[in-house]
Amino acid sequence: MTVWLRPERNNIPMDKIIIQGGQRLCGEVQISGAKNAALPILCSALLTEGWNTYHNIPDLMDIRTAKKLIGSFGAEISGEASVRVNAANMTHAEASYELVKTMRASILVLGPLVARMGVARVSLPGGCAIGARPVNLHIKALQDMGADVELKDGYVEARAKRLKGANIYFDISTVTGTENIMMAACLAKGTTILRNAAREPEVVNLADVLMDMGAKITGAGTDVITVEGVDRLYPVEATIIPDRIEAGTFMIAAGITGGDVRLKGCNPLHLEALISKLRDTGMDIMPIEGGLRAIGHGKIRSIDVKTQPYPGFATDLQAQMMALMTVGNGLSVITETIFENRFMHVSELTRMGADIVIQGHSAMVKGISKLRGAPVMATDLRASASLILAGLAAKGKTELSRVYHIDRGYQTIEKKLSALGADIKRVRA
Ligand code: EPZ
Repeated sequence: MTVWLRPERNNIPMDKIIIQGGQRLCGEVQISGAKNAALPILCSALLTEGWNTYHNIPDLMDIRTAKKLIGSFGAEISGEASVRVNAANMTHAEASYELVKTMRASILVLGPLVARMGVARVSLPGGCAIGARPVNLHIKALQDMGADVELKDGYVEARAKRLKGANIYFDISTVTGTENIMMAACLAKGTTILRNAAREPEVVNLADVLMDMGAKITGAGTDVITVEGVDRLYPVEATIIPDRIEAGTFMIAAGITGGDVRLKGCNPLHLEALISKLRDTGMDIMPIEGGLRAIGHGKIRSIDVKTQPYPGFATDLQAQMMALMTVGNGLSVITETIFENRFMHVSELTRMGADIVIQGHSAMVKGISKLRGAPVMATDLRASASLILAGLAAKGKTELSRVYHIDRGYQTIEKKLSALGADIKRVRA
């Protein structure tokens, strides 16, 4: 049973987003830097001494949490869109539960801390709305590299005089697991091979930054990554890739409103699975100078979608695609293969009139002609995006509460949507 902490007690603002549906979205939107690339890259600063500078950092709650976490080790960190980090004078190697419980990706400091400091005490992140989110694969890989790892009082306690290169096989393709171990392996003695490694673009962005720091990595972007350990890494200046999940969310927004949106600063090569699926629904998607153009034509063909590790259809776009399919012209089967509980948006979409039946890991979505606006509650980051998309297309008013979920992963989404013609506003609770 999920026990929801009353967020207002933790002084999390209880803002609401109010949408009057029915507006076609038209115009141009600038896509921000990728949250899931910025997080591991900021953590990679812990591997070196001296000033690192990172450009195109998105202004998100999770990024602010990561900056607080990195600062708590004694590193110096400053800046917003361009962030500078100097971890020369680290005094601590402990990531507290207080910080880690608000952002699971905090586990990404584990590998760098053990590699650089020889010791780390990182709170177990705990689960979240979409699943148990274990980190057993991260821990096993560090043990394979010679670290002593203990689970004590809800913390991972790891120590190693110096990590040793090892042959790592991930039972499951894990994005942050691949990133954590790739970072740790950079300073290990000897060569590490990561098999069944994640292939996401964010893994490649991190590998490129690590190589600019002097790391010796081959195979990033494939499922076998080889890292030859070095004695030292050097500070770097780097740029975060665009956020493919934000871009995909806006493409689906164009589809669900029958709009015409130009997305600037996104990389079409990172969105091939989504582009193919949206074309199957009847949308026109074409590359333009510096990005993509997405055109919806009102009529939406119902299609089937199955989430897979990259380059398959991203689980982080499943909820948004489901919103689109609620107003498709037939039956859509949406299958979630990555997380065990990523259908929290279904009950809220149903409140808006959607016809969805969950059967195991699949949702049967029977398209209806029109959603109805309603008061709905965000439960997790991507579910929130899905409810906003539904609100844009619904007849009447949709009131989304607990929008702090969406602030974790989307930079001023209501401002960007309003600039495209949506009738959307944020109200302070
Ligand atoms: C990353 O999470 C992303 N987060 C997630 O984005 C994304 O949904 C996910 O990858 C899948 O693409 C960041 O990059 C910060 P996994 P991660 O390890 O690394 C199981 C968002 O919305 N597993 O690839 O935590 C796990 O339970 C977020 O931006 C283990 O069993 O996901 C899941 O079923 C949500 N043991 C599967 O692997 C482990 O040690 C894939 O998870 C690790 C993972």
